Amino acid sequence: MENQSLYERIGGDEALRMLTDNFYDLVFSHELISRLFKTDKDLIKEKQRLFLTQFLGGPQAYSDVYGHPMMRARHMPHTITEDDAVAWLQCMSEAVGKLPVSKELKDELFNRFPRTAFFMVNSEG
Ligand code: HEM
Repeated sequence: MENQSLYERIGGDEALRMLTDNFYDLVFSHELISRLFKTDKDLIKEKQRLFLTQFLGGPQAYSDVYGHPMMRARHMPHTITEDDAVAWLQCMSEAVGKLPVSKELKDELFNRFPRTAFFMVNSEG
């Protein structure tokens, strides 16, 4: 239905669990950006799943637990270059591609990320 959120249309919590599982498997084994991820893989998966729930129009799952997202501020302790953002987006593109949804929905979902990813860039490298 057209008035459903993107969160609901991709398949809700089950889809986001699948997405974050696949995404962080790619990120944690990526030759460029794995260096940035030093904490627990399950914890970061969980945080991302809660964040994406609200980012895609579902319940305010991240804010309920962690407060205001302030994503750029939360990324400031990490040195993130444009190349890192491109690599992050490549992992996301691959993970989105594995979801059991239509090509149109995959494109709509992926298109939510580039602007936010480049907003996280905080270093010229
Ligand atoms: C531009 C490329 C990006 C890089 C290199 C990056 C890197 C990181 C790193 C290193 C962390 C901390 C992980 C840890 O605790 O070990 C993190 C946390 C997080 N990132 Fe990103 N990130 C990027 C873009 C994004 C984007 C576009 C989003 C959202 C759409 C996002 C959402 C999150 C969330 C929700 C957390 C957890 C924050 C918390 O501590 O509560 N990131 N990211």
